[in-house]
Amino acid sequence: MRPYYADGGLSAAFYDVVTAADATLAGDVELYAGLPPAGGAVLELGTGSGRVAQALAERGLRVTGVDIAPAMLARAEARRAALPPEVAGRIELKRGDMTALDLKRTFDAVICPFFTLAHVPAGAAWKNAFAVAARHLPPGGLAAFHLPRLEVMRGLGPVNAAVPVMDQALGDGRRLLLFVKERSFRAPPGRLDQVIEYALADAAGRIVERSPERLSYWMADPEPFAAAAGLVLDRPPQPLGGAGDVWVFRKA
Ligand SMILES: C[S@@+](CC[C@H](N)C(=O)[O-])C[C@H]1O[C@@H](n2cnc3c(N)ncnc32)[C@H](O)[C@@H]1O
Repeated sequence: MRPYYADGGLSAAFYDVVTAADATLAGDVELYAGLPPAGGAVLELGTGSGRVAQALAERGLRVTGVDIAPAMLARAEARRAALPPEVAGRIELKRGDMTALDLKRTFDAVICPFFTLAHVPAGAAWKNAFAVAARHLPPGGLAAFHLPRLEVMRGLGPVNAAVPVMDQALGDGRRLLLFVKERSFRAPPGRLDQVIEYALADAAGRIVERSPERLSYWMADPEPFAAAAGLVLDRPPQPLGGAGDVWVFRKA
């Protein structure tokens, strides 16, 4: 059993396949692109494979993407290497922990897309992540956190471990299948624990590789954590895809 995004795991290898098929992310890039001024600088906490970083760089923004997982950063590096030089030149990638980061500079906006904050416990780690966001913003700068909705995660219900929740052709005869093997929800504090098995099937339909991986989401009201870091809510939470909201805060 691996954690999500670990070296050698299939969640990192097929992250782009799975997110491309995820309708709950529709519109997220446009939302983040609207936060900084044209040509501005963005810090992305948990940049993953560079999905958002690339899209923002293609819109003329300069992006510094930080991630803790070497396997994900390797994918982001490969993505950047394939971009036209002027776009690639607007992306900087760094290994780092969003709960303990100090780049000694500020950005026009800080973004933390696709439930990244929910990957760490909603206690000291959230407090530190909001402090990191505030540290990298000038007064008036915006920080956006995409967080899962507690009522949606709580309502996911029992699993049928035998039925794939995703079955995606990979274009080379193989298929990627995702099975939810275990799921439990605890409230309080608001924590979803899942074991998701990634499985690769060959052209004959035989499963040739399995990678069961553990993924947890922590959920809480982000406002008190933001307030402790000097960040105030800038607008009502922006609904995204029915599963979560993007919370935009402004540094006082
Ligand atoms: C769901 S992915 C989001 C990737 C990308 N931002 C996107 O929207 O496609 C979450 C990412 O957060 C990273 N991550 C988790 N905890 C982290 C931490 N403490 N510091 C930095 N990155 C972290 C994971 O390695 C993973 O790449």
